[in-house]
Amino acid sequence: MNTATHIAIIMDGNGRWAELQGKNRVKGHEVGAQIVKEITTYCSNNKDIQRLTLYAFSTENWKRPKLEVEFLMKLLEQYLKRELPVYLENNVRFEPIGDLKAFSKSLQKTIKDVEEKTAHCDGLVQSLALNYGAQNEMLRAINKLKNTQETITLPMLSDALDCKQDVDILIRTGGDHRLSNFLLWQSAYAELFFTNTLWPDFTIGELESILKKFTKIERRFGGLK
Ligand code: IPE
Ligand code: IPE
Ligand code: MG
Repeated sequence: MNTATHIAIIMDGNGRWAELQGKNRVKGHEVGAQIVKEITTYCSNNKDIQRLTLYAFSTENWKRPKLEVEFLMKLLEQYLKRELPVYLENNVRFEPIGDLKAFSKSLQKTIKDVEEKTAHCDGLVQSLALNYGAQNEMLRAINKLKNTQETITLPMLSDALDCKQDVDILIRTGGDHRLSNFLLWQSAYAELFFTNTLWPDFTIGELESILKKFTKIERRFGGLK
């Protein structure tokens, strides 16, 4: 039976969820943040899951209206400050991935602070993908290695990436069937799950049903069974 150690989620559909209720798109992000907390807590109580990587803001999301981007930045800062005690209580280590230099100094400081204060936690790693794009991640990795004299190997490249662990289960909510520049390298052999559920409606029950399906999949990694 398979065990899932690394789960990655493209948390999509916040805006549509709010619009369906006649609310502003940002309301969907607010409720979405609450779901992040629930799913993280669930994963921290699951012995097999070591890492939960959540796509929160892509390198392409800067194209959105200024007000929405500003709201998302504020929400992220508030979330991290508010949730610090919850991370500690649940023994969750916070680890951001992405190109953080683009954020305000204050947000960068909050990110670093939560990362440092949870560094000793060893129950679950909650990795938030922030200004993350897989292409940008690979480009930065290649630039890190460009002056090395040796021939670059797969482990060397993998180690130069922000996220160094292969994905077992990749979930996308919101009904679209695409990866939108998320963990392209690490998902080489991930099992993909697409659901029409909009992220603010995603539940622990739906995650459990995905985990159950995953245990029965025959993963061959190119070999034969
Ligand atoms: C995902 O929800 C959250 C972020 C990209 C920040 P969306 O905001 O993309 O919601 P939809 O896809 O427009 O409904
Ligand atoms: C992917 O959702 C990014 C995040 C969930 C953070 P998008 O809504 O940005 O993706 P596209 O534009 O539909 O591909
Ligand atoms: Mg979307």
